[in-house]
Amino acid sequence: VPVMSRAEAVLCRSAPWRLFARRVVLPWALSGHRLTGRVLEIGGGSGAMADTVLRTHPETTELTVVDLDPGMVRSAGRRLAPFGGRADAEVADVTSLPFDGDGFDVVLSFLMLHHVIDWRDALAEAARVLRPGGRLVGYDLCRSGPAVAFHRADRSAVSMITPDELRSGLEAVGLVPASVRRSRGGLVMRFDAHKPPPA
Ligand SMILES: C[S@@+](CC[C@H](N)C(=O)[O-])C[C@H]1O[C@@H](n2cnc3c(N)ncnc32)[C@H](O)[C@@H]1O
Repeated sequence: VPVMSRAEAVLCRSAPWRLFARRVVLPWALSGHRLTGRVLEIGGGSGAMADTVLRTHPETTELTVVDLDPGMVRSAGRRLAPFGGRADAEVADVTSLPFDGDGFDVVLSFLMLHHVIDWRDALAEAARVLRPGGRLVGYDLCRSGPAVAFHRADRSAVSMITPDELRSGLEAVGLVPASVRRSRGGLVMRFDAHKPPPA
């Protein structure tokens, strides 16, 4: 069930994008967060970001990548095989995750929410599987002329979100946003929210 257009899937898998994503995008998106414990990456694609996280964050004890597209999951499985039991890739829909609640210390979401028409359901699932005190960290496209035009041209179904909508969506599922920040240029936004302990 590929959700992305062929053009976008090729771009996501390409070596130049992977290099840029690892060297530039990931450090910017994490902005110094250490990823300790059990980590879940939703819509993890071919596993390029997960591979870098596992190399650069020895404190990540276990990283699970889920993606709706079985082809992406196969690529991620191959890429993450050298990490043995520290990594796992499986097919799953982020709006209905096959995990118990409160099980992950961190949920990562890189450039995937705009592919999920029911993105609020994805946030609800991220909130459910996070342990109290756990964090959702990531980045995504902002609704903007160039982003809308790109996806209109490649005819993929997307749901472009503004920073204000994302902030309200996070709060609606019980997450506490620490920051939702548009990048310079306004094309993408970085976000970081935590799940508060029960009152
Ligand atoms: C633009 S790619 C980003 C991949 C990766 N996060 C990265 O930064 O390289 C978006 C990914 O989200 C996945 N995706 C879209 N909708 C999904 C859903 N409902 N559940 C799980 N994965 C989904 C797509 O299959 C695709 O691999």
